[in-house]
Amino acid sequence: MFIKEAKIINSEVVIEISGQEFLKYCFFWLRDNCRCNKCYNTLTFQRMNDILDIPDDAIPEKVVVEKEELVIEWNDKHRSTYTVDFLWKCCPKNWRKNAVPRVLWSGDEVKNKVAYIKRDDFLNSEIAFKNFLQSIVTYGIAFVDEVANNMEDTELVIKRVGPAMQTLFGGVWSFTSNMARADTAYTTIPLGPHNDNTYFEDAAGLQILHCLEHTGTGGDTLLLDGFCGAERLRKSDSRAFDVLTRALQPAEYLESDWHHSFTAPVIIVDPANGQIQQIRFNTYDRSPYCVGTGDDAIEYYAALKALARQYTSAETQWHFKLHPGRVMFFDNWRVLHGRTGFTGKRVLGGAYISRRDWLSAARVQNLLT
Ligand SMILES: [Fe+2]
Ligand SMILES: [Zn+2]
Repeated sequence: MFIKEAKIINSEVVIEISGQEFLKYCFFWLRDNCRCNKCYNTLTFQRMNDILDIPDDAIPEKVVVEKEELVIEWNDKHRSTYTVDFLWKCCPKNWRKNAVPRVLWSGDEVKNKVAYIKRDDFLNSEIAFKNFLQSIVTYGIAFVDEVANNMEDTELVIKRVGPAMQTLFGGVWSFTSNMARADTAYTTIPLGPHNDNTYFEDAAGLQILHCLEHTGTGGDTLLLDGFCGAERLRKSDSRAFDVLTRALQPAEYLESDWHHSFTAPVIIVDPANGQIQQIRFNTYDRSPYCVGTGDDAIEYYAALKALARQYTSAETQWHFKLHPGRVMFFDNWRVLHGRTGFTGKRVLGGAYISRRDWLSAARVQNLLT
């Protein structure tokens, strides 16, 4: 890719890229994003200029292409250069393209597509680690196999991705059906599909689970792609989808020393690209909806039911048994999880990792922008 020509048309600089595409940039944007060493520090990758110091009447006096870069000489004698890659990345068209490259899935069709990485490769090979993260970006799930059946090894693989999030459950935790916490997860009854931490403003980005022990029957894991069900709803009933992106749904966690609460829509859409960013669906932690009467409430409940039907229909769910040795990682903003009821002793170890940390790991591997 190269800049063939640059010129001023009206109040914009128009560049022709590789002789086939025209991109336009307004004067103020170009001056604001000047990459000279007075405006931008290439050691810290941080902006140095202040918006208040950028003159409103900054006008390019000369616009040329030099050594494949756009060079602007301004009317106050400032000189700016821009690479073609930088200009291409920032044009509005490509900004929208920065949508996360996902593949939506339903039922167990994803079971032979997601990554199953051996523990030693996961810990030691950058390629294996990248494949693992690619699977999470694409499908929202990845597994690490051959992990020793103890908390130390579980913690080791968790921390390869990022630090464990500190919450009321601790950092790296293990739990069993002993009602140690005021949460249905600590019982033996079935758990319908849900996202964790809907009562946090920063719900865990990844959830990690390792079944360390199970001596009885049942206790199958179920996973489903929350974005797939929500996209189906967007197609079949766009009004219901829209309601769920606007109506505010509180969620709550109550225990003697804890009271977490957070309110936001059940479906959160990324305003930058229209992609679904987060599902906040949790039957257990959903607290009273703010509007108790009127058409709004009736419409809201109908919409929530429509989404719930997407998530409870059996063909959307992937059921399997987690055995010791296989550690499951999934995107808690996307993938809903649950389990069937069980008998006997069942011990799970795991942790949460913040969304910012796993996205950072994926960006370092050039999987996201
Ligand atoms: Fe959960
Ligand atoms: Zn500058």
